[in-house]
Amino acid sequence: MTNELKGKVNYSVNGNIAILEVDNPPVNPLSSGVRAGLAEFIEKANSDDSIKGIILTGAGRSFIAGADISEFGKSFDGPDLNSTLRDIEFSNKPVIAAINGTALGGGLETALVCNYRMGTNKAIVGLPEVNLGLLPGAGGTQRLPRLVGPSQALKMMLSGAPLSAEKALTSGILDAISGNSLIEDAIEFLQDKIELSEHPKVRDKNEKVLEARGSENVLTEAKALAAKTRRGQFAPGQIIACVEAAINEDDFDAGLKKESEYFLECLMNPQREAMIHIFFGERAASKISDIPKDTPLMSINSAGIVGSGTMGGGIAMNLANAGIPVLVLDQDEKNLERGMGVIEKNYQMMVDRGRMSQEQKEKVFGLITPTLSYEDLAKVDIVVEAVYENLELKQEIFKTLDSVTNNNTILASNTSGLDIDALASVTNRPGKVVGTHFFSPANVMRLLEVVRGKDSSDETMATVMSLGKKIGKAAVVSLNAPGFIGNRMLAGYTYQANMLLLEGALPSQVDNALESFGMSMGPFRMMDLVGLDLGWRARKLANLETPLVNKISAELCERDRFGQKNSKGFYNYSEGSRAPNPAPENEEIYKEVSEKNNIQRREISDQEIIDRCILGLVNEGAKILEEGVAQRSGDMDIVYINGYGFPIWRGGPMFYANQLGLEEVIKKMNVFSELDKEFWKPAPLLQKLADQSATFGEAPAVNERAELLSFEQANMGGV
Ligand code: 3HC
Repeated sequence: MTNELKGKVNYSVNGNIAILEVDNPPVNPLSSGVRAGLAEFIEKANSDDSIKGIILTGAGRSFIAGADISEFGKSFDGPDLNSTLRDIEFSNKPVIAAINGTALGGGLETALVCNYRMGTNKAIVGLPEVNLGLLPGAGGTQRLPRLVGPSQALKMMLSGAPLSAEKALTSGILDAISGNSLIEDAIEFLQDKIELSEHPKVRDKNEKVLEARGSENVLTEAKALAAKTRRGQFAPGQIIACVEAAINEDDFDAGLKKESEYFLECLMNPQREAMIHIFFGERAASKISDIPKDTPLMSINSAGIVGSGTMGGGIAMNLANAGIPVLVLDQDEKNLERGMGVIEKNYQMMVDRGRMSQEQKEKVFGLITPTLSYEDLAKVDIVVEAVYENLELKQEIFKTLDSVTNNNTILASNTSGLDIDALASVTNRPGKVVGTHFFSPANVMRLLEVVRGKDSSDETMATVMSLGKKIGKAAVVSLNAPGFIGNRMLAGYTYQANMLLLEGALPSQVDNALESFGMSMGPFRMMDLVGLDLGWRARKLANLETPLVNKISAELCERDRFGQKNSKGFYNYSEGSRAPNPAPENEEIYKEVSEKNNIQRREISDQEIIDRCILGLVNEGAKILEEGVAQRSGDMDIVYINGYGFPIWRGGPMFYANQLGLEEVIKKMNVFSELDKEFWKPAPLLQKLADQSATFGEAPAVNERAELLSFEQANMGGV
């Protein structure tokens, strides 16, 4: 083996059994050196007469985490995966996969070419390639349906969700679960089989695929599932086509050949690059560039939440789900009771939908304790304040928390836009104060903006980022600046949507155009959901004039159209339904407002709608990057995909702009600047990168904290 190959396989012998241990920390992907090592040592074991059986296992906590994702789209060294797996499958000694941890993607596919599979009770198996815009391309689409049946295999491959060892055993993926030492048990298992003249191969198990032949049901159900859960994605259709081949091809290798062809098509599709950008982007986002990797973390073994409303309840669920006991505080007994009731109802719904057992529900719900007393929070490791957005109220709460909790407790605010430094300033521990901006519903949405105040300490930041990972969030750091990352970008997007409405588009046209682009919800449906009256009431209260961009929504409010909350807004809603129905009665209002403001309504193309709204996000994103509010452009992609319904297969707004080409972005913006010079002035960084034909990924690092816009100066008009 040459030195450049990445990862290795360790070879050892125990009696008459050879043990091949994949060693490529931290998670053992099938990099070049691993493939080469497997090929070399399978041959070595096969050519050694004293060896009667082979164990394949992984070093550390993982079995094999799949193909090496960093190799996709590049030329690679060493043997290819399929030929390596063929060597294992046609080994003349029996091979058992001893699955010591995660066996994902190519990792499970490696186990599927072995004759037998045994796992520890911590083993996890799955084919998550769909999340990377790929399909299982090392035989998984042909072998898994043969083991678990096409219907379950499709569910696993379309969701990408892994199975626990227990479920893998009952569904037939594992032959056994080790109760003791995995390697000892695997040796014992093999010794029992050594004398057999033949050993089972998954490729020969045709019963389950033949059962599905001639019926369209399985494929029809899979297509419906893909349409519902993976709208716009390319790989799901390819996965279904592969399983169709597994069902209908008489020759196993013909099915494999189709799988390779369809895999290659996924590999060449731009969605693959976008989704792999998100895989690595999420991991990059979890790192804070100027904080040393070895910064000590505080242990978070208990938490408090102030506020038992929707946000507080959702955050409490996140923490409890990760095994952290939580005290939920409210000052009002009735609110507290109602809040706990909502939490219990949410858990019950999960039980009813088969997502957790009654026993699990009782265990997690049992971790959440209501309280009316601040004194009860004295010993918790972190408190997340989640009351409504009012700086004075939050400052009062922070003062109280500062006095009742021990000095080490982290004090976090779930504010969506208030100044974290203003909260830190009322405490004696500004280093322990941080923003944790969860997105609603907090128990579902993956995004967590971790807001870094000017004094937030390295230890606090690193601890909260690690907690974010523990509770399953995509955590992204934002500097403490108006709108943080997500809402600041959103302002440009909704601004353009509102302007398009004034210029002649209808809400349904704007929403349809952006939803067909891939956004999960168009901007007007979103505004109806949030409520049109928030800004309108705030402006009235402060005696402020309505800016042009908000004139239509203000007019709707004047006519009692507040959005979903009273069943009429940009759309009409029937009682108890969230489905938008057209509101033709609004069209006169749009015309009147446009006319009153001297705006000539015109036909607007769907392309213009998409370009203006999405490039509105991109230009603001460029400013955020330049100011250092976000650490890297990929962080903004993670924010938009996990918090704002941007399609993952487009890789986020900044990646989308890179793919479009930043020169092209500027060209389009120049055209729009005829409509609005100020708005469409390119951010200096965008202009600079476009001039250099570079991408946002090549933006120079911001080494010093920029002078940020203050919260008083900010005008977040469009939100
Ligand atoms: N290839 C290359 N690098 C990988 C990798 C892979 N398959 N899986 C993880 N890594 C890297 C991560 O990028 C990260 O690197 P970093 O430390 O430099 O940021 C490091 O390994 C640790 O990963 P995590 O932070 O994600 O570690 P966790 O312990 O939280 O999670 C895991 C472990 C569950 C294995 C998770 O990493 C994971 O889900 N990995 C991807 C699994 C996957 O999608 N496999 C399919 C690959 S495609 C395939 O197999 C195609 C085949 O069908 C032909």
